[in-house]
Amino acid sequence: MHCVVRPASLLPGLLLFGGSLWNPAAASRSTPDCKAFPGDRSWPSPSTWDDLDATLRGQGANLLIPRPPGAVCHADQPEHDLEACEEAKTRWATYDFHAEHPASMMWDTFTNETCMPDAARSCSRDGYPAYVVNATTADHVKTAIDFAREHNVRLVVHSTGHDFLGRSSGAGSLSIWIHHMRGVVHHEGSFTLSQTGGQDQEGLVIPGSAVTVQGGTMMNDIYRATHEHGEVVVGGLARTVGVGGFITGGGHSRLSPEYGLAADQVLQMEVVTPKGDIVVANELQNTDLFWAMRGGGGSTFGVITSVTLKTFPTRRVLSSDMALVIEDLDAPYLWDVVALFMTELPRFVDAGLCGIFSSSLVSPDGQYEGAVEGGSSLLPPSALGFVGQMIAHLDEGDAGEVKSHAAAASLAAFNETLKSRWPEAVAAGDLALRVESKTFPSWYEWWDAIADGQQIAGFSALTGSWLLGKEDLDKADPEVVKEALRSVSAQAHIGLMPHMVGGKGVMEAVPRGGSNSVNPAWRKAYNHLLFANMLPPVDEKAWKESADLINKILQPIRDLSPDSGAYLNEAHKYQRDYQKVFWGDNYDRLAMIKKQMDPEDVFWCHPCVGNEGWEERWDGHLCRVKATDNYLEKSEL
Ligand SMILES: Cc1cc2nc3c(=O)[nH]c(=O)nc-3n(C[C@H](O)[C@H](O)[C@H](O)COP(=O)(O)OP(=O)(O)OC[C@H]3O[C@@H](n4cnc5c(N)ncnc54)[C@H](O)[C@@H]3O)c2cc1C
Ligand SMILES: *[C@@H]1O[C@H](CO)[C@@H](O)[C@H](O)[C@H]1NC(C)=O
Ligand SMILES: *[C@@H]1O[C@H](CO)[C@@H](O)[C@H](O)[C@H]1NC(C)=O
Ligand SMILES: *[C@@H]1O[C@H](CO)[C@@H](O)[C@H](O)[C@H]1NC(C)=O
Repeated sequence: MHCVVRPASLLPGLLLFGGSLWNPAAASRSTPDCKAFPGDRSWPSPSTWDDLDATLRGQGANLLIPRPPGAVCHADQPEHDLEACEEAKTRWATYDFHAEHPASMMWDTFTNETCMPDAARSCSRDGYPAYVVNATTADHVKTAIDFAREHNVRLVVHSTGHDFLGRSSGAGSLSIWIHHMRGVVHHEGSFTLSQTGGQDQEGLVIPGSAVTVQGGTMMNDIYRATHEHGEVVVGGLARTVGVGGFITGGGHSRLSPEYGLAADQVLQMEVVTPKGDIVVANELQNTDLFWAMRGGGGSTFGVITSVTLKTFPTRRVLSSDMALVIEDLDAPYLWDVVALFMTELPRFVDAGLCGIFSSSLVSPDGQYEGAVEGGSSLLPPSALGFVGQMIAHLDEGDAGEVKSHAAAASLAAFNETLKSRWPEAVAAGDLALRVESKTFPSWYEWWDAIADGQQIAGFSALTGSWLLGKEDLDKADPEVVKEALRSVSAQAHIGLMPHMVGGKGVMEAVPRGGSNSVNPAWRKAYNHLLFANMLPPVDEKAWKESADLINKILQPIRDLSPDSGAYLNEAHKYQRDYQKVFWGDNYDRLAMIKKQMDPEDVFWCHPCVGNEGWEERWDGHLCRVKATDNYLEKSEL
């Protein structure tokens, strides 16, 4: 369906150098301090690429020259097709459309908008990888890694293209596309760790069921497979999020407040390293790699070709749509209510609730629509407030007792607080907490009913976020909290999106081997507070200004919890002090492991561990820069 040509059917040399596809201005540059880039003299010759294709075919894989999915809309492109263009336009906003494509990204920013489904704009492959390896085995991945290392070609790893930080794309790169590396194997009752010979056999059998999933498997497949066994994994909400990016970033889930992050559930991984070794990492072998791959970020230490995750028995779910409604747009109490809500969230979490909200606090123009699932039907179009969807587990004793469940009780208590602090507003119906609850017989049935009810991909944006603890909010001056929240709302296009996904389970999680590299800030967090800004059409100056603005908008929130940090997978690509913000005290060890695993910087992405020695230029070249000893000095954009 998507337009992909194989080198065999269309000469790669012709495609790359014959037409208007690559920027001719860059064509004759020779840059020894840079990774080879299409048009450079150092770029591998067409016959070298043919050899790679031949090797891959011998292994049952193939090399693709990815065609931009928007090319169907452009008369000067070979795949111009009006019908396909209509389909591309209609489906551009869906996750599925981009997730199926070998090189597309959910967010246009990260393919540099070089070929949008818009005939009025130009179309080139400039923002896309030069070649894609359609990898389904560890050997295919190894072939790609070895080629990139030997030929000094930029390497990226692409699963679904969900990444908010664009780490799964790179202009002029060789991309390892692992989307077809999918599958789930269930282990009933226990899982036995693999280990190299000669070691003590004790402690090898890990009690409890588990699943081994291949590196490109999506949430959909994992949930479906575990549901057949009455089980569930700590997974994300969206159907098409891939396990690789999710796990390496940490992975929050509606189950996290109880069980911890997804990275905390990993028992073992198979990884292809930057040196081309196919290794097993667990608490018994390759322990540094095992530690680093659980929180240290994707496409940095290697490619995960399979990962084994602990599963949990499914339980009944109490699902609550919620709206905090403020009818009077000029109400003097508006920001007091918002600040109170934000400060109360940790108590909802402690009562067993987990959920995600979005807000429409600046103007009632429906900003909340599409941002998160659930609750929007409870917020009248004329009002402001928060909408969202929460769940809590119901156990045996909770049967038919939803009203007295701790989760419901915490919401009722908040309702009482609203009534006592703003009795007139509540009595007049100007201020209300609306909750509609339903029960589901299993986690899967709840998830299947709500996941991806709204799809909002296909635009250019940058996100920003911060992890907030309970004490920080409790001890903060309410006026300061109010001002911080008001300031974010006033400047962000998609305003405050509090995620109640931390809490007890995350704080008390004991990952295999004793620890992992997840940001220590998660272990104190209750609220992952997210916002996003749309980007103007690609322009270097505007881009940098937008990137800077996210840091500015974030500052008052950072000030509320300065020792905290942010969640790597849903954060600002150009986050200031990203090493400290995403990894805290784990950064130094991560950087050391990166040096050991990848001394030649075969893997590079931004913002990623150990990437300081290189810089991505505006035209796509990836070049060496003098790494400063103190990485914090290099924190300005
Ligand atoms: C709609 C939506 C919903 C989301 N929901 C959640 C959620 O509920 N919880 C949550 O925590 N996050 C969530 N996220 C964020 C998500 O965790 C990140 O976008 C994550 O990067 C997606 O991983 P991916 O592999 O699907 O994406 P990709 O963009 O393909 O990859 C992301 C990063 O991981 C690397 N990578 C991917 N696979 C591998 C692998 N096998 N080995 C090594 N590196 C790999 C890539 O190179 C890249 O660096 C959501 C994002 C979206 C867009
Ligand atoms: C990629 O490989 C898979 C598995 O072999 C195959 O089903 C799929 O069609 C290939 N995709 C492309 C675009 O070649
Ligand atoms: C909050 O109180 C109001 C007024 O008593 C009531 O109508 C509403 O249903 C309550 N909401 C919740 C979530 O308890
Ligand atoms: C991105 O687009 C801009 C504006 O068209 C251009 O100047 C720049 O070279 C492009 N970079 C890449 C990597 O395509």
